[in-house]
Amino acid sequence: MVEPLAEGGSVPEADFPADCRMDHTVNTVCVVGLGYIGLPTAATLASRGIEVIGVDINPQIVAAVNDGKPYFPEPDLDMLLRAATTLGKLRATARPEPADAFVIAVPTPFNDDRSPNLTFIDAAADAISPVLAAGNVVILESTSPVGTTARLSKRLARQRPDLRLPEEGENGPFDVHIAHCPERVLPGHMVRELIENDRIIGGLSEACAEHAEAVYSIFLRGTAFRTGAATAELVKLVENAYRDVNIAFANELSTICDQLGLNVWQVIELANRHPRVSILQPGAGVGGHCIAVDPWFIVASAPEQTRLIRAAREVNDAKPKFIVSQIRERADRLKHPVIACLGLTYKPDVDDVRESPALDIVVELACDPDTRLLVAEPNLRALPPPLDERANVTMCDTLAAVREADIVAILVAHSRFRRIPQEELMRRMVIDATGLTHRSVSMTR
Ligand SMILES: NC(=O)c1ccc[n+]([C@@H]2O[C@H](COP(=O)([O-])OP(=O)(O)OC[C@H]3O[C@@H](n4cnc5c(N)ncnc54)[C@H](O)[C@@H]3O)[C@@H](O)[C@H]2O)c1
Repeated sequence: MVEPLAEGGSVPEADFPADCRMDHTVNTVCVVGLGYIGLPTAATLASRGIEVIGVDINPQIVAAVNDGKPYFPEPDLDMLLRAATTLGKLRATARPEPADAFVIAVPTPFNDDRSPNLTFIDAAADAISPVLAAGNVVILESTSPVGTTARLSKRLARQRPDLRLPEEGENGPFDVHIAHCPERVLPGHMVRELIENDRIIGGLSEACAEHAEAVYSIFLRGTAFRTGAATAELVKLVENAYRDVNIAFANELSTICDQLGLNVWQVIELANRHPRVSILQPGAGVGGHCIAVDPWFIVASAPEQTRLIRAAREVNDAKPKFIVSQIRERADRLKHPVIACLGLTYKPDVDDVRESPALDIVVELACDPDTRLLVAEPNLRALPPPLDERANVTMCDTLAAVREADIVAILVAHSRFRRIPQEELMRRMVIDATGLTHRSVSMTR
């Protein structure tokens, strides 16, 4: 069933069972999972005067948050967190405590067979169920396959038969309200985007959406759009699949151009002069734990209907191997090649290496014992595993790596790499997976 969106209003009555109206007052919020999403959310709520209990199973994270120190770099988060802990509005702990609202922001990875792994959500549900009370709202923020919010409600209902929990298609009234409100913030801009981005509020019932919206209205300046939980789940997945499919098109163009001996950056730049064409840029692949993962959740739900989404995933997953083959083709011409690998993170100017294609490329190259790899990654202090155990891999300053190398592989378009003097690159074999060295056609006229 597809529910039309309603901006700051209610969805059509037919889509939601009748439900009781309850007090929407939110004084305390328990945020389960203090990662990239949960911690900024907890700090933002606390900055608005809400009593926030932050919960994480990682004791180091609990200690860091109670010290008022973010454990990952994110502009303005340190200031927000320090203020929240100093004022006593945010404290972290290992177990959920009673609250008006629960926000679940735990990981949703995939299994080896690419099916969704919901064990973190299950564990979070099991942890909050003993402290749930009538009048509470539980919001699932983790990116989830369609049906996960309803599954969460069922799991809570099994553990708390004393409470009436919403089930899809059932009429209320309910004691506890459940909603899915996916997150779409951009790392590096989280504190601003949390407040300014529009928000999809997907309730299992209309009252569930209303209760969830009351939590976001504490800090949201963007528009809240209410809909059903299943639609909200698919909306988030579709956003990331859309990006993946469009990046796959650019990545496929890059391999076509290589085959035809053409410059893909020039082809895309010129094609984009068409008023209705806007092709994205190719790269070393697609990484991070969102775009590289979430499309598989759609494939798992509708395997027969997802030929394009699956193909896009396969094209993007194949791109690192293509880059490796380009580098090896050059390296095979040398006896003891020295390769400068510029960048390890999954995208420019972040410190995150989750699902990073650049990391995969360097790990694969490191399997050649005769090859020396000089890795420049200005956003990391040390080589991440498994590179930290490879004898032929050394971490280097950017210029030192370039100057010592026979081959320079630009894997991530970090700002720092834009300042490498042209003459340093001209003397070496350069494989630029990012387009960083491409001079635009208008500049070459
Ligand atoms: N990071 C992003 O940019 C982003 C953007 C949009 C959506 N999301 C989605 O948000 C969700 C969370 O992502 P993230 O990047 O914050 O993950 P993360 O790995 O940074 O943080 C998750 C945290 O949850 C904790 N945790 C795991 N199980 C727990 C449990 N049972 N109880 C308490 N804590 C628990 C972990 O220790 C970790 O600190 C995922 O579904 C992700 O796909 C992330």
